[in-house]
Amino acid sequence: MRILSGIQPSGVLHAGNYYGMMKPSIELQEQGEAYYFIADYHSMTSLTDAKLRREYTRRVAIDFLACGLDPQRAVLFKQSDVPEHVELSWMLSSVCPMGLLERCHSYKDKLAKGISPNHGLFAYPVLMAADILIYDAEIVPVGQDQKQHVEVTRDLANKFNDLYGETFVVPEPRIRRDVAKVPGTDGEKMSKSYGNTIDIFGDEKAIRKSIMSIVMDSRTREEPKPDAEQNNAIQLLKLVADETVYRETLEALAAGGLGYGDLKKTLFEHYWQRFAPARKRREELLANPDYVDQVLREGAEKARSIASVVNRRARRVCGLE
Ligand code: ADP
Ligand code: TRP
Repeated sequence: MRILSGIQPSGVLHAGNYYGMMKPSIELQEQGEAYYFIADYHSMTSLTDAKLRREYTRRVAIDFLACGLDPQRAVLFKQSDVPEHVELSWMLSSVCPMGLLERCHSYKDKLAKGISPNHGLFAYPVLMAADILIYDAEIVPVGQDQKQHVEVTRDLANKFNDLYGETFVVPEPRIRRDVAKVPGTDGEKMSKSYGNTIDIFGDEKAIRKSIMSIVMDSRTREEPKPDAEQNNAIQLLKLVADETVYRETLEALAAGGLGYGDLKKTLFEHYWQRFAPARKRREELLANPDYVDQVLREGAEKARSIASVVNRRARRVCGLE
């Protein structure tokens, strides 16, 4: 089974990225041939600072490795080290109806926010399709917000296969229902673009501050809260703490006598503990930059050896060769 996913180096990674994409991807590395990449071409649609792109790209690599990506099992690489993605993207663009892209929620959301769109942003799902199809990937682990993009990928694969003959494997998204949409501090989807994130590797003070700022209702400590399962802080606690802590906290909230301040303190402690082993590994990686360079270099070589074969297959069927 071939697995592939990508993550943009457009900011600092947060709990939504971790539970929605990184953790499922890391678990899948045990089950198949996994390819994970840092989508630096994609980040160009929103980030125009070269220095920041370099920094974030490196950070994503380090953070992913710290969280448990094992380069002996999964191939980790930087998208732009495999320029074949862009060539395939052009071949797919030319079979892609405009309407398919005009219907994409993530594009429409950005328009609605008043972002003046560039062509890269509009064509984003086509490049994403190329990223996936160029590895003959079967499974794409992502959060719910990327489902439609994987559907566009399926449409483009089928269209290309119909027009030029069987060329691509049609992939499937793998979305874990329990973490499809991790809530941010304001209860909306946690996202870099909403300023509601809790970072994975922030310093203690900053993480405590984000957690203490989680928006709750106005009930006092004494009031029973039988519906607490729905609130943001408890949903996050469910992710970071073990089942017993989660159940006991839920029961205490339902009974009354446990306030939201106490809940947030518990959440902070478990959050901090949860990422302690990864923080330690991250320190080691930061002290060993050559190792990270080597992982990315070897990853790019392995990725390119597959991508160049599939790209040639596509070039041949459409008459470029
Ligand atoms: P952001 O919304 O912060 O810009 P990205 O779009 O870079 O995040 O997402 C990278 C990956 O993390 C994608 O697979 C996405 O589905 C997943 N992801 C991001 N935020 C969340 C969230 N709040 N819940 C679940 N998955 C998420
Ligand atoms: N669009 C994805 C995101 O913003 C990142 C991405 C780019 C991706 N190419 C991909 C994810 C291919 C999975 C497969 O999160």
